[in-house]
Amino acid sequence: MTMHARRRFLVRSAAAVGAVAASGARAEQATPPGIPDWMKAPGADTGSQPYGTPSRFEAGIIRNIPKGLKQYTSASTRTPLQDLDGILTPNGLFYERHHGGIPDIDPAQHRLMIHGLVERPLVLTMEDVRRFPSESHIYFLECSGNPGFEAIKGKTASDLVGLISCAEWTGVRLATVLREAGLKPDAKWVVAEGADAAAMTRSIPIAKCLDDALLVYSQNGERLRPQQGYPLRVFLPGFEGNMSVKWLRRLNVAAEPGYTREETSKYTDLMPDGTARQFTFVMEAKSIITRPSGTQRITPGFNEITGLAWTGRGRIRGVQVTTDGGKSWREAALQEPVLNRALTRFRLPWTWDGQQTTIASRAIDETGYVQPSFEDLTAVRGLKSFYHNNAVVPWRIAADGEVANGYA
Ligand code: CO
Repeated sequence: MTMHARRRFLVRSAAAVGAVAASGARAEQATPPGIPDWMKAPGADTGSQPYGTPSRFEAGIIRNIPKGLKQYTSASTRTPLQDLDGILTPNGLFYERHHGGIPDIDPAQHRLMIHGLVERPLVLTMEDVRRFPSESHIYFLECSGNPGFEAIKGKTASDLVGLISCAEWTGVRLATVLREAGLKPDAKWVVAEGADAAAMTRSIPIAKCLDDALLVYSQNGERLRPQQGYPLRVFLPGFEGNMSVKWLRRLNVAAEPGYTREETSKYTDLMPDGTARQFTFVMEAKSIITRPSGTQRITPGFNEITGLAWTGRGRIRGVQVTTDGGKSWREAALQEPVLNRALTRFRLPWTWDGQQTTIASRAIDETGYVQPSFEDLTAVRGLKSFYHNNAVVPWRIAADGEVANGYA
């Protein structure tokens, strides 16, 4: 970047500093060359906080807890995507979805049973699980109801698609553990059961189990949080979140799926003709602009547009951004490295002219699939579906700079 170009970004911020300094004595004191209070005495003792937390000035950056959900059947919390940078979600802000509350599991008492169509049924302690060869991978996790088809009226990026997060997961390949038990020839499904009060149970095709499926015990370097399945969960890269069964206690190897509640009445997709799609596992390509996004306010001039893209089918190939309500689309820059089945950060430099407009992003994945508009998606899927809404999210920018949901 040339010095000339750089200066143009800084004009506005220099003006902003002047405005802050003029607004009060305390602000002036904190602005160079003044000496702020926190330079006049030593800071907090080292070790005053054995487990660290963010600055008290960031206390507002918290998960978004939708009102009106039934605590024991449909509880969820959403990641504040609009407040985060990069691709990794801090463990304290990772989205949650529970079907029967959060169990308080003693890892010393926890066991994983592997039985059914295996040569050697196993009952493993957590110590046993951790003796297997380990791997770490960065993957996104997304709820299939993110958002429901009728729930596109949210205000913020978190309201709309906050049921997605991304972390580094550590554990053992599920294939390694299944090989230890020895699969019988007619083993086609693995039915995974959680140790929560819902005994959350999902059936996983054997091909996924032998591909990239993991049994995970750590997230972002530390042991799983109770909300994420402590001490052990399944992790199925790119598949809908509820299948990555938390608090894992049992793997029943079978010739048929379990046809459990969560794969008959729930997590199926009602089509316009009244039939239902079942076993819709993969999360299709999707993206959202997280800044600027709903409830934020921008000023004319330079604004970086940034957001997140992902696909359950592998890597993101590209993200296109419109700043003129869909008349034209420009290629955004992707933050490298672009990882398999992880969030991908995209950015586009933009100079806003102060006119009302609509901005949006659309993701293209490595299979060539293009994220659809809501109109194109519902033309195929109808409006009776709840899950797997991966439509483009538009943000409307008013002349005063206020950003709002472009669906509403
Ligand atoms: Co599904």
